[in-house]
Amino acid sequence: MTDAPMTDTPMTGVATADALAIDPAADTLTLPPLPPGAHPGGGPLAGLETRDVSAWFGTHKVLERVSLAMPAGEVTALIGPSGCGKSTYLRILNRMHEMVRGAALAGEVLLEGDDVYRPGRRPAEVRRRIGMVFQRPNPFPAMSIQDNVASGLKLAGIKVSKDERQDLVETSLRRAGLWDEVHTRLHTPGGALSGGQQQRLCIARSLAVSPDILLMDEPCSALDPTSTRRVEETIAELRGRLTIVIVTHNMQQAQRVSQTCAFFLATHDTPGRIVEAGPTAQIFGSPRDQRTSDYVNGRFG
Ligand SMILES: Nc1ncnc2c1ncn2[C@@H]1O[C@H](COP(=O)(O)OP(=O)(O)O)[C@@H](O)[C@H]1O
Ligand SMILES: [Mg+2]
Repeated sequence: MTDAPMTDTPMTGVATADALAIDPAADTLTLPPLPPGAHPGGGPLAGLETRDVSAWFGTHKVLERVSLAMPAGEVTALIGPSGCGKSTYLRILNRMHEMVRGAALAGEVLLEGDDVYRPGRRPAEVRRRIGMVFQRPNPFPAMSIQDNVASGLKLAGIKVSKDERQDLVETSLRRAGLWDEVHTRLHTPGGALSGGQQQRLCIARSLAVSPDILLMDEPCSALDPTSTRRVEETIAELRGRLTIVIVTHNMQQAQRVSQTCAFFLATHDTPGRIVEAGPTAQIFGSPRDQRTSDYVNGRFG
């Protein structure tokens, strides 16, 4: 599909929650074991691009023709006031939006040029390749640290040998910048870690299935400044190995971690859209639109 509908209603045949009626039993995926030597984020880099993505909850249109290229191996920051559709946009990228009843969308989401909404494409496969980390760290609190990391494999239906599993746990924890802090207590509960460690544990769990893309929805907003810096360091280390899209309300953070930045805005009667997107240095240093300038300088939002 190439465009939002003229009638301003959701396109049929696009992913609507009702049309897809996700069946959890059918939505599992058995992938072949990872090849020897494969490690999280170790594959070729994949970029993500949306073309004219619009979104609705029922009849409420919340996104209007959002087109954005999120370059491979870089960090793209999504900024804008609350309610402008940033989280909805992230959930559209990995096919979580359609899990909301009444949710609909139009447009294209291209992962390496291939639409993730192409008929016949499995949501579980898309979600394995495009992982997500949420605002509140959500490890399984009673589960051990190592099982938390490996749980991503299980959920994705990826079968690995016991040795490969151990390797993946270590590699994923190293990539998430948590290994040094937890390697002597891998059998202890994930819930006993600090908030910042739990968030890095969730990052490790996402990395264990070797995603191409990592989506992060305000991953530091529940963390103290020290933990925030630690997660930012992790993001910086992951950059170049995989493609990251991060929503943040912290303007300093957007400037520290991202290379590309998109400013979203909605008004009371218009859906969220991108006002301006481009290199982060330009969005912050010489924005073209007055609204961007006002927002990044803290004059509203
Ligand atoms: N599950 C939902 N059902 C109905 N409306 C929703 C739902 N989630 C978000 N919205 C609405 O969509 C708009 C965008 O929300 P959201 O994507 O969460 O914005 P942001 O992340 O930028 O704060 C808001 O008007 C919000 O109220
Ligand atoms: Mg949000």
